[in-house]
Amino acid sequence: MPFTLVTGGCGFIGSNFIRQMRLEEPGRSILNFDLLTYAGNLENLVSLESDEGYQFVKGDIADGELVAKLFEDYEIDSVVHFAAESHVDRSISGPSVFVQTNVTGTQVLLEAARTAWSQGEGRFLMVSTDEVYGSLGETGLFREDTPLDPSSPYSASKAAADLLCIAYHRTFGFPVVLSRCSNNYGPYQFPEKLIPLMIQRASQGEKLPVYGDGLNVRDWIHVDDHNRALRIILEKGELGRVYNVGADNEQANLHIVESILYRLSRPRDLIEYVTDRPGHDRRYAMDSTRLQQELGWRPQVEFAEGLASTVDWYLDNREWWERILSGEYRDYYERQYGGK
Ligand code: NAD
Ligand code: DAU
Repeated sequence: MPFTLVTGGCGFIGSNFIRQMRLEEPGRSILNFDLLTYAGNLENLVSLESDEGYQFVKGDIADGELVAKLFEDYEIDSVVHFAAESHVDRSISGPSVFVQTNVTGTQVLLEAARTAWSQGEGRFLMVSTDEVYGSLGETGLFREDTPLDPSSPYSASKAAADLLCIAYHRTFGFPVVLSRCSNNYGPYQFPEKLIPLMIQRASQGEKLPVYGDGLNVRDWIHVDDHNRALRIILEKGELGRVYNVGADNEQANLHIVESILYRLSRPRDLIEYVTDRPGHDRRYAMDSTRLQQELGWRPQVEFAEGLASTVDWYLDNREWWERILSGEYRDYYERQYGGK
């Protein structure tokens, strides 16, 4: 039976993707390939432990031999490529691993899939980001033909990976399709990103570090809406084409933080303005007309409801993030797989 190879499936979006796909497309088996970096957490997929349509292999997407063997050992007819270093602040303090994983890792995967799919069969979905377009002023939207203008080592490495995918399509006819999505929120997001960080800190009465003036704007989408879009793009997207994904939901960071404080009945004076992120993009906003008109996708989760349910999820799953903060989540692999 053929597998969909999901890279980075132990991270935030990938783990939600795998759960959604197993629930809504139970006939499709999933092979999750993940290095279990600090951001990968097997506990995110504990509900699938006895699911016969799900398998996990630990490994690095930049390890050419291992990735080639994966394509030999399993019949893989599609790839959804999430694996990446994903945090902008970490790319500022240590850019090298971003190039290694996001650029080299993507090229290694493309090459292995191209070799395995020598007749042009298969479909490869590159999961990318709106950050490749850089920053907007007060008006305008990112469209798929907006020039790439990345600001951080993270977004530059994602842009490089996108260009490799497009080059593989043009040069080799490789069957790749690309998505570029705005900021995701929802359950299982690592508590270094804005929304889970603020929920976790506010719930403990700790100060909330807001960068700069707090008026940078992000375009927020619930992770389930993103993943529904990815499944449609994987199935029906035109090869070689890019699809923007966004839910028309621009919010200033300060507004997000205030909404979280309100939901948690915590005082506004927890907010602490701190030094701005270097190269901090001012505003992101997506035009996802192409995805809506050509592939019929629509976002379903309304932001106020989605944020409220996300805050509640973190309150109800306190143990999940406490185990991350204490580092205990890393023991899970040893217990479950005995170091294999
Ligand atoms: P994440 O940091 O939560 O998860 C990344 C996963 O990749 C982890 O499980 C990690 O262990 C794995 N990984 C890292 N390096 C690896 C390697 N060398 N080999 C194998 N696995 C490796 O990231 P996320 O927020 O879930 O984002 C997933 C993807 O979606 C990324 O490609 C990111 O650029 C993209 N994206 C994210 C957002 C967002 O808002 N979070 C928005 C648009 C696009
Ligand atoms: O736009 C999509 C991108 O969204 C993804 O490609 C990235 O993988 C993902 O990490 C996210 O990038 P951002 O840099 O936008 O997300 P982050 O949660 O780090 O920050 C969101 C905004 O909040 C940003 O303007 C910086 C600000 N911020 C963030 C943190 C962690 C703060 O003000 N304080 C903080 O402590």
